[in-house]
Parts: sequence; structure tokens; C-alpha cells
Amino acid sequence: MSGPASRPPGAGGEVTRSAPAKVNLFLAVGARRTDGYHDLVTVFEAVPLTDLVTVRLRPAGTGEPTVRVSAFWSPGAPAASHPGAPALPQDLDNLAGRAAQAFIEAVGGRGSGLPPVAIEVTIEKRIPAGAGLGGGSSDAAATLLALQELCGRPLDARTLRRAAASLGSDVPFFLSGGRAVGRSRGELLTLLPRAPRLHLVLALPPVTLATAEVYRRFDELSGAGPDPATLATRIGPGLPAGGDSPAPAGARERETALEAFLRTLAGGEAGAVARCLRNDLQAAALSLRPEVGEVLRALVEAGCLGALVSGSGASVFGLAAGEKEAAGAAARAPSALPPALVGRVAFVPVVSPAWEVRDDPAEGARSGSGEAPHTLKPG
Ligand code: C5P
Repeated sequence: MSGPASRPPGAGGEVTRSAPAKVNLFLAVGARRTDGYHDLVTVFEAVPLTDLVTVRLRPAGTGEPTVRVSAFWSPGAPAASHPGAPALPQDLDNLAGRAAQAFIEAVGGRGSGLPPVAIEVTIEKRIPAGAGLGGGSSDAAATLLALQELCGRPLDARTLRRAAASLGSDVPFFLSGGRAVGRSRGELLTLLPRAPRLHLVLALPPVTLATAEVYRRFDELSGAGPDPATLATRIGPGLPAGGDSPAPAGARERETALEAFLRTLAGGEAGAVARCLRNDLQAAALSLRPEVGEVLRALVEAGCLGALVSGSGASVFGLAAGEKEAAGAAARAPSALPPALVGRVAFVPVVSPAWEVRDDPAEGARSGSGEAPHTLKPG
């Protein structure tokens, strides 16, 4: 958001960036690969629920670059008030710290590429953790981008994307934000036009889910699940899937379903988009946290056209017809919750996709409203 475009890293400096959350409008998951990941096809949508990431460089006399990360809940952030909110990881336990390390390595290894500097990352968190909203991944990408800015952009786009992909499957998406298709484990990106904008209601329940655990449950459930062809109809507008899961989607089925979704999305009719929302991890997430199903139901009862778990959960989003409808649904949803959840779920209306995709070749992202998709492939 601010800071020098380019300066020698030895001079120090400070850059602050907004790090948006994401939801997955579409997520078709294939079988487990030999490396433990699942091939998937997804549509990422950056949403304006943001962390604030500040990176400071200080000249540090002699020695190797050092990395410190300090993360804290923003006062008033929905997750901050949850009694069970997880402690935020600090320093190298935080993915942003590992991002700074990956940056140092990519620039030329410890001590050789950067002059002696102390890298200090401060993260004001608003995006709940364990929510399927990509908060940690977004903080990591913001850290990489801030370091690029502070150090005079030493990494080319391909190296930057490779560093991002080494940190996590969702991190490359946050280098560009906006709206994009993700393939492979999510790191191969095709940027999409930003139109039409969608009116969403984010629902943040006071429970968390670990991505690896949800994929494991997906594997367990999918062994005995029904034919994948039934999937799109079962995860209909706002109707949570039952406790079972489909067999993993084959590559062709994933692409065919994606094409249909993208056609519908481009049509811009919110009701039709709501009917095509798909998340193959939803059944697994609901089987681990059944109360999330109540949140889906509340969103639909409150007037959303459809609702879906985001990524591996436990957060949920609803799709509304327009701005007024989203605000109305967010206001009504709390009273549609079962008593045990009343007052414990935050409902946030947002318009997506969030923030401009930067027109910066060094960051490997180039797109804009109405433009043709632009394919990015980490090397
Ligand atoms: O890539 P990331 O570190 O975010 O993934 C966390 C975990 O989620 C992985 O260790 C893996 O168990 C699971 N995962 C997967 N298939 C993907 C992405 C993630 O199985 N495409």
C-alpha cells in the first residue's frame, strides 16, 4: 500500500500491505497423489477481509539476515473474541517468517544475496485462522511482495512464484489476488476477468478446521461415496451435502464442470451462479464440524441465493443478489442460527473480487476487469 518502489536493501525501509482473504467459489478435488497432495481445480476469489502486514528492513551491522514475526489480533476482529481462538504463531512458526526466509534464500542464500539486515514483520490479523480463508497464505504472499518492494525487486516473476508455491498451495494466488482458476494442487494459476463483481456474506463460526485433516476425511469418505456425477446437484444452492462425499472427481469431469461454472459466472446472473457453487471438501468439513451446516442453513434462510463452505472450512460464504440483499442477509442471519450458535458467528457482507490485480510484470500478474485470462505457471 505504501513505501518506496525500489531502494537498496541495506538502506532499510518499511512497507505495509493489505493481505486479503479468499473464498473458493468452485473446488473440484481429485484423488490423492503420491506426494500426498490432491489434484484439484478451483476458482479463487479474493475478498476484502484483510490482514495488515508491515515489513521493516533495518541495517544490521554484520552477520546474516535475521527474521522476526510478531502477529496479533486486530482489536475487534471477529476471531479475536472467540474463547477458543488459536494462539497466533510468531517468528518462524508463522508462514510469513518462512516467506521471509524463502525470499532470502531465493535472493542468493543466507548472507550472500542481501546485505546484513534485520527483517521485522508485523501482522495485524483480522482473517480468522483455520477458516479456509487463506489468511496465513495471504500474509506470506504479502511478505514476499513487501520484501520485493523494499529490496528493489531482485526476484523475477518465475522465482517469486516458485518461492510462493514452496510455502503453500494457495500462496501463489495471493501474489495476484482478484479472481483466478487454480490447478494442480492450486498453485498453477489462470487469472480471470474481475467482472462480474459478486455480493457475498462471509460467515465466521467460532470453530477451526485443519486443511490436512479435512483432506484426510475427504479420502476416507470418498472411498464409499456416490458417483461424482451426482455431486453438482447435491451441493446445490445452500443445501449442505450429507455426511458422505463423492468419489474423487476425474480430471475430465473437473474440467467440464469448471467450464460450465465459468460460463455461468460470466453470465453474471447471481441465482445461476449460486446453483453452480461447488466444494468437494464440504462434506468432509461438515462431517468434522456439523455445526457449520447450521451456518450454511442460516445464510440461505436469511436470504442468500446459495451458501458454501470456503476451501477446507470452517468459514462459510453466502451469495446474494446484490448489495442490499447481502446487507439484509448479514443482518438477518444471526437470528436464523440455532440457540447454541447465536452471538458466536460473525456475518460480514463483502463485494468481491477484492483489490486490483497489479499491472506489474515483476510480480507476474497482469489482468483487469474484462480482460482475457492470463496464464501464470510457476517454473
Ligand atoms: O499446501 P498447503 O500447505 O496449504 O496444504 C496443507 C495440507 O493440505 C497438505 O499437507 C495436504 O495434506 C493438504 N492438501 C492436499 N491437496 C492440495 C492442497 C492441500 O491434500 N491440493
